Amino acid sequence: MSEPQREPRRRKQLGEWYTPLALVDAVVREAVFPGAISVLDPACGDGRFLRATGLPQQTGVDIDPNTAFVHDDALQREWGEQRFDVLVGNPPYLNQLSSLTSRGGRSKFGGGPYADAAAEFLALAMRLVRPGGRVGLVLPQSLLSARDSQAIRAEVDRVAALRWMWWTDTLMFDANVRVWAGVWEVGGEPGMVRRSYGPSFETLEPLPTPSKWSGLIAGGVLPAHDGPVLGDIATFTADFRDQYYGLVGAVGDDVGGPPLVTCGLIDPGVCHWGSKPVRFAKQRYAAPRVALERLSPALQRWAAQRLVPKILIANQTARVEAVHDVRGEWLPGVPVITCITDQPQRVLDALASDATNDWIHHHAAGSGLGVGTVRLNPKLLASVPLFG
Ligand SMILES: C[S@@+](CC[C@H](N)C(=O)[O-])C[C@H]1O[C@@H](n2cnc3c(N)ncnc32)[C@H](O)[C@@H]1O
Repeated sequence: MSEPQREPRRRKQLGEWYTPLALVDAVVREAVFPGAISVLDPACGDGRFLRATGLPQQTGVDIDPNTAFVHDDALQREWGEQRFDVLVGNPPYLNQLSSLTSRGGRSKFGGGPYADAAAEFLALAMRLVRPGGRVGLVLPQSLLSARDSQAIRAEVDRVAALRWMWWTDTLMFDANVRVWAGVWEVGGEPGMVRRSYGPSFETLEPLPTPSKWSGLIAGGVLPAHDGPVLGDIATFTADFRDQYYGLVGAVGDDVGGPPLVTCGLIDPGVCHWGSKPVRFAKQRYAAPRVALERLSPALQRWAAQRLVPKILIANQTARVEAVHDVRGEWLPGVPVITCITDQPQRVLDALASDATNDWIHHHAAGSGLGVGTVRLNPKLLASVPLFG
């Protein structure tokens, strides 16, 4: 069967992207084991994973009414006592922040309201495979560290052991999502995880199962740390929608007030305000300032709290990029993180160190929008060990 040409909106709604056959083969090779007879793909599309297994008992389910397999919603289906030797597939990744694809609430499998549909399929998979069987799924990298999938990751770790994983920094689908794949042994004891990387499936050093899934793609195993952390000497705060929308209408190149410093202006140790243009609320500015008198009383209080000596930290970068606002003159744009400390040099040195950057990648790899970038948050920054 050839890949159906469907209207883009409908494809997005179903999470319908077809898996390159090399990736299908790589997952199937690891998931199928001697003695396996039955296999399920709960979001089977054209059935390419099922066919690749070559197993005699193949069950495919798909929500698409045109499917040649069982037509059903795998997440709502009554599965009863059915158990399979192998479960494989590339489930839909449905962003819960988008109204087109949101299920509009909590996860049926214990994840938070924003747990991606792929996390639901992973949790379901663990329930549908017999002890000793294998689960092999292609998943979004965000699932390695997303907060709302934490409960599902913990449950998977409780019932299964990861044996093999693969990931890539390149985009493998026309969907704009970076993916990885894992093969778990249900009921297995944790041990070494064999790893493979990139479109040509290079073999990498195996790793002992890391305590955090994000460690799988960051590489290396970090020793447990129970010593002092950045949060002991600094406080970190993030601003959100209220601040973002609260600033709209108060920002301009032709107004007086504190400079608005966005992530794009921050390089390690340098603030490019005034020398680099800024995009804010879909507009371009040369040297934007915030007219404080135009802000609501709540936003004026926020601005007063921010107009103090501080460190500003860019977000969605590959390494931590921080700059010192010695005189407390700048206002942070969203999603810049503000750090207040009475030991600024110690914090800046820590943020610039390789050890900190390794730590952050280990705990949040896959969370950023771009290749190798991470989404920082105050809790993550506060947890960074004060190495040395
Ligand atoms: C990423 S595609 C993968 C298709 C195929 N397995 C492949 O790898 O080429 C995801 C598939 O999941 C199906 N799907 C989406 N939601 C589903 C659900 N709740 N239950 C079953 N199938 C679903 C879509 O129709 C689509 O065929």
